[in-house]
Amino acid sequence: MSKKRIIIGLTGASGVIYGIRLLDVMQSLGVFEIHLIMSQSAEQVIKIETDYSIDQIHKKANFVHNNVDQSSSVSSGSFITSGMIIVPCSIKTLSGIKNSYNDSLMVRAADVVLKERRRLVLCIRETPFHLGHINLMEELCRMGSTIFPLIPSFYRKPNCISDIVDQVVFRILDQFGIFLEHSSRYSKN
Ligand SMILES: Cc1cc2nc3c(=O)[nH]c(=O)nc-3n(C[C@H](O)[C@H](O)[C@H](O)COP(=O)(O)O)c2cc1C
Repeated sequence: MSKKRIIIGLTGASGVIYGIRLLDVMQSLGVFEIHLIMSQSAEQVIKIETDYSIDQIHKKANFVHNNVDQSSSVSSGSFITSGMIIVPCSIKTLSGIKNSYNDSLMVRAADVVLKERRRLVLCIRETPFHLGHINLMEELCRMGSTIFPLIPSFYRKPNCISDIVDQVVFRILDQFGIFLEHSSRYSKN
């Protein structure tokens, strides 16, 4: 069976650990061909918020695409993918996608996913929102993307940050038909 080709974008919002953990889980599942795009700001936030090197994160993907390379495969609709997850997604990137302002590969790839009617999951991280942010999200919802704010829940009584991160990551994977929250391998219960 061929692997599901998926694009993962990391932008410079807080919560890069969600994206890193998603890459880890996807890699361990062995059913995805992972195409990674990281913005320059994501690299900056990774250095501030984690102990990972950029090289370590690159190794979690099958292919790494340079965010300034518009000739990359993921820039074209003829390159078939299951969709794209941007996690975390900054307000700047949200705005770029809403306006098809395709000056980076990240935004271009998301634009392509939308125009091809594939699944686009935008894991927004900002708080609080002003009306402009909410308008951007509303419009992108209408355009077919899933707005998936990085809001953790506590009903499974997390013991640590990684429990909180995992719960969110599993919910993201639900969007692509991978249901891990209650699996024995990944659940505490
Ligand atoms: C430590 C740090 C945390 C940030 N957190 C957020 C955030 O949660 N949400 C957001 O929209 N921008 C955040 N920013 C600002 C973005 O990095 C900035 O707007 C950047 O231009 C986004 O570019 P990108 O979308 O190309 O990654 C943060 C910046 C830094 C340095």
